Amino acid sequence: MKTLIISSSISKKSRSFILCKEVYSRLKQNKIEVELIDARSMELNLCHTEKSESMNLLSEKIANCDNIIIGMGVHCYSINDSLKILLDNCFSEATEKLFGIICAAGGEKSYLSTMHLTQICMNEWRMIQLPRIVYATGQDFTEDQLKNKNVIERLDVFSEEFITIGKKLIS
Ligand SMILES: Cc1cc2nc3c(=O)[nH]c(=O)nc-3n(C[C@H](O)[C@H](O)[C@H](O)COP(=O)(O)O)c2cc1C
Repeated sequence: MKTLIISSSISKKSRSFILCKEVYSRLKQNKIEVELIDARSMELNLCHTEKSESMNLLSEKIANCDNIIIGMGVHCYSINDSLKILLDNCFSEATEKLFGIICAAGGEKSYLSTMHLTQICMNEWRMIQLPRIVYATGQDFTEDQLKNKNVIERLDVFSEEFITIGKKLIS
């Protein structure tokens, strides 16, 4: 199984990136072929302008993987702007693939914001979502580390389920 984890936040102190790294190491431990893409290392160009080399490369990786885990930060009760750029420009070959959502937010009340990502992926590319989301808030972290045991447990369950369902869908 080939899994792509896309951390879409370009914040220097991205908390969703920390969550993505946690899932990456769990998948690695389970010997899954997994790659972590960090949007901070990409050149992100707006829709209707020329796609950068790193965006073309991501489109290729999306076409060639079995499934995708998307890390997002909540912006104004929705997805972050850099994720929208990636969706609009790099996801055309993501059709019918399994995807999972890992989300960082400022507060507890924005958990439905991930529904916008669900809508886009399901309506645009008929993607199938793992029915479990990891959602963490600022209070779940110290400066640069995850501290909430419940979130750590949710990361374990999310990773296990993503592997189980992911393998079933490609066999
Ligand atoms: C422009 C902007 C809008 C935001 N809007 C929300 C929001 O609606 N709800 C919320 O809980 N947090 C909101 N936040 C806080 C972020 O979700 C939080 O900082 C989170 O850690 C972002 O993910 P990241 O650290 O991976 O970038 C907002 C942050 C920014 C910069």
